[in-house]
Amino acid sequence: MKTPVTHSRIPVAILGATGAVGQTFIRLLDGHPWFRVAEVAASERSTGKTYAAATRWIEGSLPADVALLDVKPCDPALLTSPVVFSALDSAAAGDLEPAFARAGRFVLSNAKNFRMEADVPLVIPEVNAAHLSLLGAQRAARGWSGAIVTNANCAATMATMAMAPLHERFGVRSAFVATMQAVSGAGYPGVPSLDILGNVIPYIGDEEPKIETEMQKMLGRMVGSRIEPAPFVVSAHANRVAVENGHTVCLTLGFEQKPTPEQAIAALREWRGAPEVRGLPSAPDLPLRYRDEPDRPQPRRDVGDGRGMTVSVGRVRADEILDLRLVAMGHNTVRGAAGGSILNAELLVSTGVIARVGG
Ligand SMILES: NC(=O)c1ccc[n+]([C@@H]2O[C@H](COP(=O)([O-])OP(=O)(O)OC[C@H]3O[C@@H](n4cnc5c(N)ncnc54)[C@H](OP(=O)(O)O)[C@@H]3O)[C@@H](O)[C@H]2O)c1
Repeated sequence: MKTPVTHSRIPVAILGATGAVGQTFIRLLDGHPWFRVAEVAASERSTGKTYAAATRWIEGSLPADVALLDVKPCDPALLTSPVVFSALDSAAAGDLEPAFARAGRFVLSNAKNFRMEADVPLVIPEVNAAHLSLLGAQRAARGWSGAIVTNANCAATMATMAMAPLHERFGVRSAFVATMQAVSGAGYPGVPSLDILGNVIPYIGDEEPKIETEMQKMLGRMVGSRIEPAPFVVSAHANRVAVENGHTVCLTLGFEQKPTPEQAIAALREWRGAPEVRGLPSAPDLPLRYRDEPDRPQPRRDVGDGRGMTVSVGRVRADEILDLRLVAMGHNTVRGAAGGSILNAELLVSTGVIARVGG
C-alpha cells in the first residue's frame, strides 16, 4: 500500500530539467504525494523560455503545470526550493551542486562528480540506506547547511541490486560484468541514429571505471563514520545497443562461499532490501524480481516492472571459470537515475533529515 498525502507537498527544483533524466524527474513527480515541481533550471540555451518551449519532450504527456514554468538559471540565489534534484551534465555539476549544498539545499545528484568522495553517500536505498549517516560528517567537514547525496552509474545500479543479496549471504570475491546499455543512457539527443541503428558500439566513454569502483562503495559497510568498500574486484565491458530504455548486465561472479544456483535463486527471491524503504511512495513492491523463463529478463518486456523501479534478474546458472552467471536488467532513467534520486529523497523525508512542509 502506498503512503497517502498527509502534509503539504515540498517544493523541489530540477536542475538539468530539459534533458533525458530531467524529463524523467518531471514525469515521475507528476502527482507525487510529497514533492511538487516548483522550479526548473537548465543552461543558458534554455533560460528565459517556458519549459514547454525549451524542451523537446520525449515520452508521454508534459504535465500542464510544469509546461508553463519559466526555465531559470542554475543559481541558488535565483531558486528557492529546499530540495534540488540534479540531472546536470557532469561538466556543470562540479561547481553547481556544491553551490546549492552550501546555500542550505538538499541536492540529490545523478552526476558522477561527487559519487566517490569519502563523505558523500552513494545510495540505492534498499541496498545501503545506512550510508546516509555520512551526511553529518559531510556537513561538518564542508561547512554546508545543505548536503549532497548521489546515486550511482545506471549500469552499476542494476548490477549492484542483483549482487546485493548474493554478497550479503555468500560474499562476492570477483565480478566480470558485460553491459548492453540503452541509447537513452546517453541523454538527449544522444547517440546519432546512423551510429546505433543495427549496430553495437563497444565503448561508452568513462563508463567502465565507474562500474569497476562504484559497486564496492555501495556494497561496503559503515565502520565508525566511514565506508569500508567491499573487497571484490570488477572487470567491466560497456556496450551501447539499439534499445530505447533498459540496461542489461551479464554478470559472472566468484564468491567466498560458493552457492549452488538454487541457493542463489532463493537469496534473490527472498531479498526485500532495507526495511525503512518499504512503503515509500516510489518503492516498488519488489526491488528485485527473479524470472524463471529461460529468455528473460528483456528490456522490451520487463523494463516497466514496478513502474521502472524493479530490477529483473534471471538465468542464474553455474559457471566453470568463476562460480555463477546471471543477467540483470532495469530502467536506466528511472531506477538508474531519476526514480533512484526520488526514492533517496523520500527516505530522507521519512527519516526526518529533510523537513516536511509545516511539519
Ligand atoms: N541518461 C541516463 O540514463 C543517466 C543515468 C544515470 C545518470 N545520468 C547522469 O545524469 C545527468 C544528466 O544526464 P542526461 O542523460 O539527462 O543528459 P542530457 O539529456 O544531455 O541533459 C543534460 C542537462 O544538463 C543541462 N546542462 C548542460 N550544461 C549545463 C550548464 N552549463 N548549466 C546548466 N545546465 C546545463 C542541459 O540543459 P540544456 O538543455 O539547457 O542544454 C540538460 O538539461 C548526467 O550527469 C548523466 O551522466 C544519466
